[in-house]
Amino acid sequence: MSTTIKDLDYYGRGVAKINNKTVFIKNALSDEEVEIEYTKEKKNFDEAVATSIDKENSHRRKAPCPYYGACGGCNIMHIDYDYQLEFKKEKVKNIIKKLAGLDINLDIEPSNEFNYRNKITLHNNGTLGYKKESSNDVIHIDKCLIAKESINNYLKEIKDFDKEELVIRTNDNNEIISSLTEGYIIEEINDFNFRIDINSFFQVNNYICSKVFNFINENISEVQNALDLYSGVGTLSFIASKKAKRVYSIEVNDSSYKNALENIKLNNITNVVAMHGKVEDKIKEIDAKIDLIITDPPRSGMDAFTIETILKMLPKEIVYMSCEPSTLARDLNLLKDKYEIKSIKAFDMFPNTYHIESLLVLERKN
Ligand SMILES: C[S@@+](CC[C@H](N)C(=O)[O-])C[C@H]1O[C@@H](n2cnc3c(N)ncnc32)[C@H](O)[C@@H]1O
Repeated sequence: MSTTIKDLDYYGRGVAKINNKTVFIKNALSDEEVEIEYTKEKKNFDEAVATSIDKENSHRRKAPCPYYGACGGCNIMHIDYDYQLEFKKEKVKNIIKKLAGLDINLDIEPSNEFNYRNKITLHNNGTLGYKKESSNDVIHIDKCLIAKESINNYLKEIKDFDKEELVIRTNDNNEIISSLTEGYIIEEINDFNFRIDINSFFQVNNYICSKVFNFINENISEVQNALDLYSGVGTLSFIASKKAKRVYSIEVNDSSYKNALENIKLNNITNVVAMHGKVEDKIKEIDAKIDLIITDPPRSGMDAFTIETILKMLPKEIVYMSCEPSTLARDLNLLKDKYEIKSIKAFDMFPNTYHIESLLVLERKN
C-alpha cells in the first residue's frame, strides 16, 4: 500500500500520517507516494524508510555517491541542489518563527555542492570509513564526494592504519596534514593567513567562509571595543579588527587558542587580545565597554549566564553565527526584547546534508 508524503522535516525526512500516527520516512520527499518499511516504532511516532517510489517529486535525483544511504555523512543527496537550498531556507525561517516568534525574509548563499570539505574524520574498526547513522558500525569508503580532491588522493595512499580515528585536513593549495603526519597548514582567506593545526577548529568550507567574512565586514559598524566569543583560531576577530580599535577574543580549545596567538603575529595584527578559557568564565574579566559582540558558539548555542552577561553589556551590535538554527532561535528569543534584526542570511556551508549555517546581525533597540 502506498503512503502519501505531506511534508519534509528538519532532517530532510518525509512526514506522513498513518493510522493517526506520525511517521518520519527516510528517502521520501513531499507529495511523493512511496512504499515503506518500518525501522523503529515508538509511542508517539514511528520511523521508516521508503523502499520504492510510486510517484516521484520532480526534485528527486539519483544520489551520485555509491555509499549514500548507508553512510551517515550526507542525508539529502537525493534532492537536487536548488531544492536543497529551498529546503534549508524554509527550515531556518520556520524554526525562527516557531522558537523566536519572528517572521523573517531570508536569502541563502549557495556553494559548490561537491568537493568542498577541507577536513574529514574517518573511523577504523578493521576497515577505514565513515560511521553509519546513529551507529558505531563503520562503512568502508574509497573516496568521499563532498571532500576536496586532495583529501581523496591522500586517502588512496593510506595503508595499514591502526588507530581508531583518522583526521585529514587540506588547504586550497592542496597541502595535507593528518593524524598520521601532525604538523599544520596555512589557509589564506580574504587576505588573512590562518595557521591551523590538526586539532584546531576551522570552518569546513573555504568558499563559504570567505562569503561569511565579507558579509560580516559589510554589516558591522566602526566601534571602539569588540568581543569575539568562541573565537577558534582568530577568524572573526580578525574581521572585527578592521572596524574596532580593540578586539577581545575568547576560546577554550588549547590548540585553537595557540593558533590564534600565532595568527595574530602572522598577520601583524596589533589590536586583538586573545583570552584562553571558557566564555562563561572569561567574559566576567572584561571590564571595557563593549560596542560589538560576535558570537559563534558550538551547536548547543550559548549558556544562560553568557546571554545574561551580554544583556548587561548591551553592546550596540551583536553578530550571531550559528550552525544550529534551533539554538540560534532559542537564544534570539532571549535577546529580542532588547535587539532587532538588522540583517540575516543563510550560508550553505554543508551541501548534501541537512545542516545549515546562519548569520544574524542584531541592533540594539533604543
Ligand atoms: C563554531 S566554532 C567557531 C570558531 C570561529 N569563530 C571560526 O569561525 O572559526 C566554536 C568554537 O568554540 C569553542 N568553544 C566551545 N565551547 C566553548 C566555551 N564554553 N568557551 C569558549 N570556547 C568554546 C570551540 O573550541 C570552537 O573553536
